Amino acid sequence: MERTLILIKPDGVKRKLIGNVISRFENKGLKLIAMKLMTVTEEQAKKHYSVHSLKPFFDGLVSYLISGSIVAMIFEGDNAITSCRNICGTTDGSKASPGTIRGDFSLNIEENIVHASDSDESFNHEYPIFFNNNEILNH
Ligand code: CMP
Repeated sequence: MERTLILIKPDGVKRKLIGNVISRFENKGLKLIAMKLMTVTEEQAKKHYSVHSLKPFFDGLVSYLISGSIVAMIFEGDNAITSCRNICGTTDGSKASPGTIRGDFSLNIEENIVHASDSDESFNHEYPIFFNNNEILNH
C-alpha cells in the first residue's frame, strides 16, 4: 500500500474547489488518512520545494504557497503516487488533459491547483513538513 501527499494550493482554496478536488481522489478509491486546512510558513514552503531551490521560479513558488490557506492531505492506496498524479494531470494546466484537475481548472504552470508527491522519496521528505505521525489515522 502506497501513500502520497496532496496539497490543494491557495488558488484551489480561493476558488472553492476543495470538495471537488477531494471527491476525485475518493471516487478513485484512495483512502484519506490525514487532512489539515492550514497556512504555510516561509520556512515550511522553502523546505517543501527545496528540490527546486536553484530554479529561477523558486522564489515565486514559495511566495505563492504562503499567499493563502492550503489543504494538506495524505491519501493511501495501491499505486497511490501514480494514481494521484494522473488525477492531477500534467504540471502545466494549459497542457493538462480535460478530465484531470489541472486540465479542468488551471491555465498555467504557476497556479495549478494541486501538488502531488512524485515519488516515495519525495513523499518521505514532504509529509513531515505538514503532519506529525500521530495525525495520520489508521482507519
Ligand atoms: P508542484 O507539483 O507543486 O511542484 C513544483 C511546482 O513548481 C509545480 O507544481 C509548478 O507549480 C512549479 N513549476 C514547475 N515548473 C515551473 C516553471 N517553469 N515556472 C514556474 N513554476 C514552475
